[in-house]
Amino acid sequence: MEGLSPAEIIAILDLAEDYVAQNRQIDKKQSLLRGRTQINLFFESSTRTRTSFELAGKRLGADVINMSVATSAIKKGETLIDTAMTLNAMHPDVLVVRHPDSGAVNLLSRKVDGSVINAGDGSHEHPTQALLDALTIRRRLGRLNGLTVAICGDIMHSRVARSNILLLNTMGARVRVIAPPTLLPVEVERLGVEVHHDMRSGLADCDIVMMLRLQTERMKGAFVPSIREYFHFYGLDRDKLACARPDALVMHPGPMNRGIEIDPDVADDIHRSVIREQVEMGVAVRMAVLDLLSRHLSNRPVALAQ
Ligand code: NCD
Repeated sequence: MEGLSPAEIIAILDLAEDYVAQNRQIDKKQSLLRGRTQINLFFESSTRTRTSFELAGKRLGADVINMSVATSAIKKGETLIDTAMTLNAMHPDVLVVRHPDSGAVNLLSRKVDGSVINAGDGSHEHPTQALLDALTIRRRLGRLNGLTVAICGDIMHSRVARSNILLLNTMGARVRVIAPPTLLPVEVERLGVEVHHDMRSGLADCDIVMMLRLQTERMKGAFVPSIREYFHFYGLDRDKLACARPDALVMHPGPMNRGIEIDPDVADDIHRSVIREQVEMGVAVRMAVLDLLSRHLSNRPVALAQ
């Protein structure tokens, strides 16, 4: 997300709208990426992101290969760069990469010839997640500009939070982060957010409540005294949600840990929760990104404004 202009973000979201419509038809397939090869290279587990990138590529007609660490030579000690060079020799047009280290995807992109899409690198960025969240919000509320969005929970380890903060600030929304001090990165204010440690005051007048998972796999040591206490103070339940605007929407990138950061009652509320819609938008946004990259590959004009 870093460096994308408002016009570029709007162009991606507008294109994604077309794909939302296409994905709701019986025939969902196009031949835009016919003859192109897309490799999904996931060094970390994933349900939504990997599946939606696979569907996105296939619906645009690309040949899509999925590689996961569990079955690759990385298990035999091959380095990231050697794996990238090996795959590069097979002439993929697009590599979709998820890696546990911040910056790894950028490094890899400098070693291969095709386009590289960041599907999440460490606690750094997850740009297509921020785009799908923006599309979900824009479709529901008609705009991003001027909205107040609260991002709650494990901000420190969250690439979703970082990319969302960048996008929302770029698009003129106000961003609040709500978390215990132990789960906030140092100098978080410098990201252009308002910081709250109390859910009730932080949620006051919010249009959007975005919940995050406690990302224990990235934690070294204990960051919260106990799960019970965490849910009591920071878990989103009806009571706390009542502090937000009456029509505030509840979002979560998934995977959800019910009863830890979110009460099942709120997560499953069809009037407030747009969590499943986020998943649907994920396929459309990823198709839009692949579409734009393919224009670059074939010298078709890229419709992004300057
Ligand atoms: C997120 C991720 O992997 O960063 N999930 C996702 O892509 N939908 C958030 C998470 O793992 O908690």
